[in-house]
Amino acid sequence: MAKLWGGRFKKQTAPAVDHFHSSISFDWRLYPYDIQGSKAHVRMLGRQGIITPEEAQALEEALDEILADIEEGRVELSEGAEDIHMNIEAILIERTGDLGRKLHTARSRNDQVALDTRLYVREHIQLIMAEIRRLQQTLLAKAEANLDVSMPGYTHLQPAQPILFAHHCLAYFHMFQRDWERLADCLERANLCPLGAGALAGVTYPIDREMVAGELGFRGIVPNSLDAVSDRDYILEFLSAGSILMMHLSRYCEEIILWANPSFGFIELDDAYSTGSSIMPQKKNPDVAELIRGKTGRVYGSLMGLLTTMKGLPLAYNKDMQEDKEALFDGVDTVLSCLAVFIPMIETMKINRDAMAEAASIGYLNATDMADYLVQKKGLPFRSAHSLVGQLVAYAIDKGVNLEELSLAEIRAIAPMVDGDVYEHLTVEGCLAARSSAGGTAPREVAAALQRAWTMLEEETWENPGRGGVDRCKSCGSTG
Ligand code: ARG
Repeated sequence: MAKLWGGRFKKQTAPAVDHFHSSISFDWRLYPYDIQGSKAHVRMLGRQGIITPEEAQALEEALDEILADIEEGRVELSEGAEDIHMNIEAILIERTGDLGRKLHTARSRNDQVALDTRLYVREHIQLIMAEIRRLQQTLLAKAEANLDVSMPGYTHLQPAQPILFAHHCLAYFHMFQRDWERLADCLERANLCPLGAGALAGVTYPIDREMVAGELGFRGIVPNSLDAVSDRDYILEFLSAGSILMMHLSRYCEEIILWANPSFGFIELDDAYSTGSSIMPQKKNPDVAELIRGKTGRVYGSLMGLLTTMKGLPLAYNKDMQEDKEALFDGVDTVLSCLAVFIPMIETMKINRDAMAEAASIGYLNATDMADYLVQKKGLPFRSAHSLVGQLVAYAIDKGVNLEELSLAEIRAIAPMVDGDVYEHLTVEGCLAARSSAGGTAPREVAAALQRAWTMLEEETWENPGRGGVDRCKSCGSTG
């Protein structure tokens, strides 16, 4: 196939080069955005008198037909035409001749590809944000259905203090809220239109960039033409927010893997979200959680890869930047596919409340409470109380019992100021209720936090910036 840019060349590119620099094998995914952008562009060209309104109309119709034909698999995209932009333009020219040759007036592939990827990022950020909302609702429902379930809280993965399972759910709710807000914030910056920057320096035609931006639902234009075609920070921001989201998913998966281990026995994964072993008949493996933990590395890799690709590039466009797409697409695919299985895995996992409560009642998780008792009821300095309770714990370990199983006489032998009222402070319920500081695990605090979380989700109004109107999001204040 003759190259659309072939005028100044005397020889064909080597077949190996055709293959090497072609991006159609992956950037074909940009076709709907490319056509959407081209339609807005020709409409503007027509309105500005750069082409006639009839030509604009005819080009839009031809582009619509190409869109339908690609969707129905009626056209073949070719490696020889390099990328999705030139494939579509070549098909257009093949079908409409000189009319099609006007499409690329006042435009470069450099602002075109920046536009397409921004449109792609904008749409997919919103898909991911919607999935995060679904996940947050799942977490709140899980918390609500298990409001009275206690479990051990850990530090260093060693039993630390009792917590409510719902408190743990809410911890992740807030992490995912920040992930959502990071994406909303990234969306705001991505939602500017680069078209009209031309190759790098602007164009010589009387174009109307604001009109194109408005037609495509952007909140404005990228102000500087060099910047518009040469930065990919909106992709890096997306991959960065996606990496943090994956890190959160991965940590939760790590906990699920532990909880599903029979030594913990805190949860049972639904059969639909676990797998068996080819040799060991008894096994029920948390493969889904492991795979999400594993796939987290891919998204980090995409982020690192693109950061490295970009770091030495002089302004403006460089072909290196074609490497942005596989990173972006793989990042989006990975995040969405992980969320699609993570959410129902959480939804369907069975909470073994007895195993969780049992684990919260052993392992001296009430030792801090005994020290706090000595401070609050007996006036000891905390460090002294800590030391006495440490001795009591050592004694109880030797005897093989819990702290609350020691007799008052045994306790007094080490801490003579203790009275019989100490025991009510040592129950799991007592430990939980006492942690009533703001954001703590006391049941009343958790119930109120759960209510606030539901309200936060309900009050949100999020307008899709790609489909008309840019509204301010009530919960995070960002515009899209
Ligand atoms: N396929 C190219 C890319 O993704 C499109 C832009 C090409 N521009 C150019 N001047 N060669 O980066």
